[in-house]
Amino acid sequence: MNNFIYENGTKVYFGRGCVREFLTCLVKEYSTVMMAYGEGSVKKNGIYDEVLSILMKEGKNVVEFSGIMPNPTYEKVLEGTRLANESRAEMILGIGGGSVMDCSKAVALAARCGGEPWENYWARRGIVDFEPLPVGVIVTAGGTGSECNGAAVITNEKRKIKTGYDYPRCNPEFALMDPAYTFSLPKEQMVSGAFDSLSHIMETYFSEPDEQNVSDEISEALMRNIIRNLRQAVRNPEDYTARSNLLWDSTLSENRLIKLGKKCDFTCHLMAHQLGAYTGCSHSRSVAVLHPVYYRHLYRDGLVKFTRFAENVWGISPEGKSREELARAGIDALADFIREVGLPTTLRELGVTDKKQLKQIADSCRFSPGAYRKTESQEILEIFQECY
Ligand code: NZQ
Ligand code: ZN
Repeated sequence: MNNFIYENGTKVYFGRGCVREFLTCLVKEYSTVMMAYGEGSVKKNGIYDEVLSILMKEGKNVVEFSGIMPNPTYEKVLEGTRLANESRAEMILGIGGGSVMDCSKAVALAARCGGEPWENYWARRGIVDFEPLPVGVIVTAGGTGSECNGAAVITNEKRKIKTGYDYPRCNPEFALMDPAYTFSLPKEQMVSGAFDSLSHIMETYFSEPDEQNVSDEISEALMRNIIRNLRQAVRNPEDYTARSNLLWDSTLSENRLIKLGKKCDFTCHLMAHQLGAYTGCSHSRSVAVLHPVYYRHLYRDGLVKFTRFAENVWGISPEGKSREELARAGIDALADFIREVGLPTTLRELGVTDKKQLKQIADSCRFSPGAYRKTESQEILEIFQECY
């Protein structure tokens, strides 16, 4: 295994009723709380009322930062930063999915960093040598794992870049995770969120080292768990056991644990981010479109791992197959699963309709140094065209 340092500063409170049980105690030392949320789902499903009543009962001064959109923009981060500073917020309580959590972490960083946040912390990896505003999150949608990492993936609309670095100091202080809070998610979002977790694992697993290491074995167990529980949750979206597994799988997939000692690829994410920056398409649905096509380009360079994926994740027998056939059978099983759970398989289904724009998007993609091999922008364009 490669050398590593492991740190995760988020304390997790998981399970039914955790907000009612623990929120009061977690916000005890703050008098002004900035409550950050999205475009209204929390008002429809009652989570907003529940949280607000707890904060009001404790006599908190509550400042609301609402309207955080999916794929949050840098403009929105700056709006939140002004509000946090003007209201002298002492902490940010983000209630939502990845977009709200990311925007909350970005505001917390920007409110305390001094200087131009984008240039110093998004355009390149900066050094966070100060304490961002404390953040706590109440997770309403699984998939990104944002609750237990320090990344804030933000879209700079002017520059057409979507990016974010994982800064350990930006980890939320606490995460309240009640699986029942995810029940109101539309089925499509539940499915694509679970696929995003699977994507995080695959991006990590398909990278060196390939020899036996505990990170890859944990990854295989997580992938099998997601596949099984997503099938179950598609059959019965209110299956609490399946939904709890998916929610915790999501955290474990992006809390740095399975990345320990691994190079990590993340090429599909880098492509998906730029598709998002140019077209605003859904992150979790776009990775579903990209993975099988990217892997058909890549598998010969990571044959050991792709054959292991076929056998250990999909249970495919190697008998009578060459190594290449076995590897391709694993990728076919992944593609079949994507169709089975109703995820999109083309960019057009994501609303990416301007084929001419694909070259510009491909040219804007960064390369992943951890991939089995470098994918040049011409090949990224071919992948986009095959996905179109
Ligand atoms: O805006 P609201 O009204 O809250 O509605 C949201 C949104 O429309 C809705 N939703 C969330 N919880 C709900 C609900 N609707 C009903 N009931 C609930 N309980 O779901 C829609 C999508 O929410 P969003 O937060 O955008 O989805 P997701 O969790 O997939 O987050 C996506 C964002 O996270 C970034 C992505 O790039 C994207 O911007 N990511 C963050 C990562 C990280 N910080 O580590 C890693 C990921 O790879 C990803 O890049
Ligand atoms: Zn993702």
